[in-house]
Amino acid sequence: MQMKDTAAIITGAASGLGEATARAFIAAGAQVTILDRDAERGEKTAAEIGATFVQTDVTSEDSVQNAVNAAVAAMGKINTVVNCAGIGTAEKTIHKAGAHNFEHYQRIININLVGSFNVARLAAVEMAKNDADEDGQRGVIISTASVAAFDGQKGQVAYAASKAGIAGTSLPMARDLAREGIRVMAIAPGIFLTPMLMGLPEEVRAELAQDVTNPKRLGDPSEYAALAKFICECGYLNGETIRLDGALRMR
Ligand SMILES: NC(=O)c1ccc[n+]([C@@H]2O[C@H](COP(=O)([O-])OP(=O)(O)OC[C@H]3O[C@@H](n4cnc5c(N)ncnc54)[C@H](O)[C@@H]3O)[C@@H](O)[C@H]2O)c1
Repeated sequence: MQMKDTAAIITGAASGLGEATARAFIAAGAQVTILDRDAERGEKTAAEIGATFVQTDVTSEDSVQNAVNAAVAAMGKINTVVNCAGIGTAEKTIHKAGAHNFEHYQRIININLVGSFNVARLAAVEMAKNDADEDGQRGVIISTASVAAFDGQKGQVAYAASKAGIAGTSLPMARDLAREGIRVMAIAPGIFLTPMLMGLPEEVRAELAQDVTNPKRLGDPSEYAALAKFICECGYLNGETIRLDGALRMR
């Protein structure tokens, strides 16, 4: 799919990896609708780059259906989803205060995994209505896993499980949607310099960068955006999760 024909909904695009992707897609000629629960940043980013913004909670059926309808009204169609909405926390399975808080666990799974599925399934209904291109294709869904899906660290049981769920979704969803001509991929980022990490002291960031094999630095959100764009454009990529991590293997 060429960028000039791309009509994308990008979740979590009020910040970080999603925002970088929205900027890169629009710069390459795509139409973008930003779905984020943060109305202030979402509106601001959308106005700055010429995207549409719809305040959305990815965990809510009604909220996502409303956003999908608004995106179709604004762009005429949806043929691309990039799921970047997500949260991270750290908590061990047991700790001084007792067991891992059950609600915290469920909240992470609900936003990161269930939310990504919610957006994918409702957007796929719209994608299936698109005219197929000469290769029989109608769209692509890209979700964001993490290297924690494969080598989660101490304190990451909930986060790693949510991300492993996303990695485990790529193949079966690609099979589910093959008849409709919709590809399904995931990106598993290593450590990226987004607002989440910009809050860390310089020395902590430098320490994190030392763990990266090569290049010894944190990922730049524009590098995530470049891979998302490549996945859209390269029609033979399907059913896989790509690590984007400078060969980082977390210990
Ligand atoms: N930054 C990294 O190093 C890194 C590494 C691996 C994976 N990831 C994953 O990439 C994704 C984006 O991360 P980021 O660093 O850009 O984070 P970020 O905090 O900068 O952006 C996340 C966005 O998601 C939105 N969001 C959160 N919950 C939502 C909900 N329920 N409904 C709608 N929007 C919601 C937030 O408002 C925010 O704008 C996340 O899924 C994260 O787990 C990030």
